[in-house]
Amino acid sequence: MLAILGGQPVCDVDWPLWPQLSDEGRRRVDTVLRSDRWSVCGRARGERSLERQFAELFAAYCGTRYGVATDHGSSSLVLAIESLGLPAGAEVLVPAMTWVATATAVYEANLVPVIVDVTASTGCFDPTAAVARLTDRTKALIAVHHYRSLCDMPAILEFARGAGLAVIEDCAQGHGAVLKGRRVGTFGDVAAFSMHQTKVLAAGEGGAVITDDAEKYERLVQLRTDGRGYVADPGFDAMEVVDGRSVMGTNHCMTEMQAAILLSQLPLLDEQHAVRAKSCAVIGRRLDDLGLPPFGQPAGVEQESVYKYAFRWPVEKRRGVGLEAIAAAISVEVGFPVYRADPPLNEHPLMRPATRPRYRAIDSSGAFEGIRFDTPVAHGLAEQTLLFHHPPLLAPEYAAHIADAVEKVAQSIDELAAHEGEIGAPDAD
Ligand SMILES: Cc1ncc(COP(=O)(O)O)c(C=O)c1O
Repeated sequence: MLAILGGQPVCDVDWPLWPQLSDEGRRRVDTVLRSDRWSVCGRARGERSLERQFAELFAAYCGTRYGVATDHGSSSLVLAIESLGLPAGAEVLVPAMTWVATATAVYEANLVPVIVDVTASTGCFDPTAAVARLTDRTKALIAVHHYRSLCDMPAILEFARGAGLAVIEDCAQGHGAVLKGRRVGTFGDVAAFSMHQTKVLAAGEGGAVITDDAEKYERLVQLRTDGRGYVADPGFDAMEVVDGRSVMGTNHCMTEMQAAILLSQLPLLDEQHAVRAKSCAVIGRRLDDLGLPPFGQPAGVEQESVYKYAFRWPVEKRRGVGLEAIAAAISVEVGFPVYRADPPLNEHPLMRPATRPRYRAIDSSGAFEGIRFDTPVAHGLAEQTLLFHHPPLLAPEYAAHIADAVEKVAQSIDELAAHEGEIGAPDAD
């Protein structure tokens, strides 16, 4: 009998907690807390700020020349978009499947998000669908690597070059993934990352922007630091940031405590990718056998970065049972939350630009209320996609339990159908 109906769950496991902080991380945070420098804007003591050190190391890890640390993934996106210097009201193509921040960041940068359908296998930006969305106001696109899948960057870059568009990568869910020998974030003009507490690099809140372009870097630092830029070598008892003189900014700086945590986590990231990959291999094989396939990848993925594990439960395997009930049943079997994917942006309850007068002023087209965004592929995918967060994947010795739980629910679908009315939906994150 299914655990949600009173039977025995397939396992009773203490799943790994997330985020995690090593002893070294605790020491680093403690050192910051004992100092009088908790921000880049505090007086330097002859050393560069930790947030600057982290940004440099993270950029080097990804494979770009420059990096800027920020307070959130959302602000990283706004800064990345603003670093392009586009005219107000320009249109930016955004994939239908992503977190709402990808589109709200476009509004925050005084631009108009235009929603593009996704590729069926990966759920990522589909350049062939984007062609019909081009207008003479289209100036950029945002490629979002998400749900463990990566964008087909060579195809997206070819489309962007042909259409004369700048490319921003939203890597909030893709730290360290490698496609055709390059880490994500190195393909476009500029890339944004999130270090929110759920992400695979986690500081509670936090973010970063990376680029290879020196001019964009100078702009990004000033946009982030109230118009101030770094001095080359901070002296003792001196400011490390001074009037940058070229662009007005706002404050989106990362604290020294966040940077201390991230400096301790970055060296562990690839090792953790390898551990999650072991779990994914076990789970992926079993789900494929059950006809509940994990999301696919474009050709050339050499390293996955798993933020959320996504798989499909097609309608024909549901006997009329809703995705919420299936998610709830798996959650109780396995002991952590499994939930359904977000709807496409154009159907997302959190996408309400008309509630913000200044967004209405940017976009008078009635964007999200209109029929302009027909995204049948994203809609169909969202209707059959289940997800769970990455922490359980850090225990590969228990990976089979996850597959067992899914299999048990698949085999008990008739039992679930008979009792669906008694089951509540699990909470999403
Ligand atoms: C694809 C994507 N972009 C942007 C963000 C925003 O990041 P943050 O929550 O750090 O603002 C997220 C967060 O989940 C995300 O998944």
